[in-house]
Amino acid sequence: MRLKKKVAIITGGGRGIGEATAKKFAEEGAKVVIADMNQEDIDRVMEEIKQSGGEALGLSVNVVDIAQVEEMISRTVEHYGKVDIIVNNAGITADARLVKMQEDQFDKVIAVNLKGVYNCGQAAAKVMVEQGSGVILSASSVVGIYGNFGQTNYAATKWGVIGMTKTWAKELGRKGVRANAVAPGFIATPMVEKMPEKVLDSMKAKAPLQRLGTPEDVANLYAFLASDEASFITGTVVSVDGGVVL
Ligand code: NAI
Repeated sequence: MRLKKKVAIITGGGRGIGEATAKKFAEEGAKVVIADMNQEDIDRVMEEIKQSGGEALGLSVNVVDIAQVEEMISRTVEHYGKVDIIVNNAGITADARLVKMQEDQFDKVIAVNLKGVYNCGQAAAKVMVEQGSGVILSASSVVGIYGNFGQTNYAATKWGVIGMTKTWAKELGRKGVRANAVAPGFIATPMVEKMPEKVLDSMKAKAPLQRLGTPEDVANLYAFLASDEASFITGTVVSVDGGVVL
């Protein structure tokens, strides 16, 4: 029970890595807020957490909209009294090679993956600074560090998340708030299922561990970074990628 009595918001908590993280955090004793755009998924994950004896609140939120994000924070504080942890996990892709990419593809990925993380980080930080404690974890990607064919927009956001994380670590450390990023490799979720089979096969072959990651592989890392076991870790990017970039 490494997260006992902690209150944790997971954006994009309705499926994939976010769902696994919400469930892992609940198992570790956290009160979990599942913040997503898909109400059906929110309801399903909440129900499953409650059936396993966990505690969860579901909120319908679009992270792009700062008013909705501020409401997410204030409703969490109303309901649970504080915000100990936020996992800025909500993210999207809209892939195209540079010469084919449309402006709206670029803009919407920036809006969710970069501005969404900024919105949530800022709104959570205000409460955490006041509390004198907190942990902000954000989803980067190996693609942010190394680039990827067809993902100019996505790579830009995931590299941007690293820059924001390091800045927040510097600004907020003295206030008792830690900020870290997680860089998953290729993880078997609905997002990755959209990629061509042959690309995924080549990623498996390239990784020394010879498989895609599971959402639980990433959730385990988030749980460690969110816990007091990681109390001297801030401003880092931790990879969970089976060694795919070696
Ligand atoms: P997913 O597509 O399976 O799930 C994303 C969730 O975010 C969905 O529940 C969706 O409804 C929600 N969401 C999307 N836009 C939102 C918005 N504007 N406001 C609130 N919620 C929103 O994605 P997956 O694979 O679980 O990825 C989660 C995070 O991890 C993303 O940030 C992704 O970029 C990152 N990541 C994923 C990798 C992978 O291989 N699956 C690899 C590296 C990073």
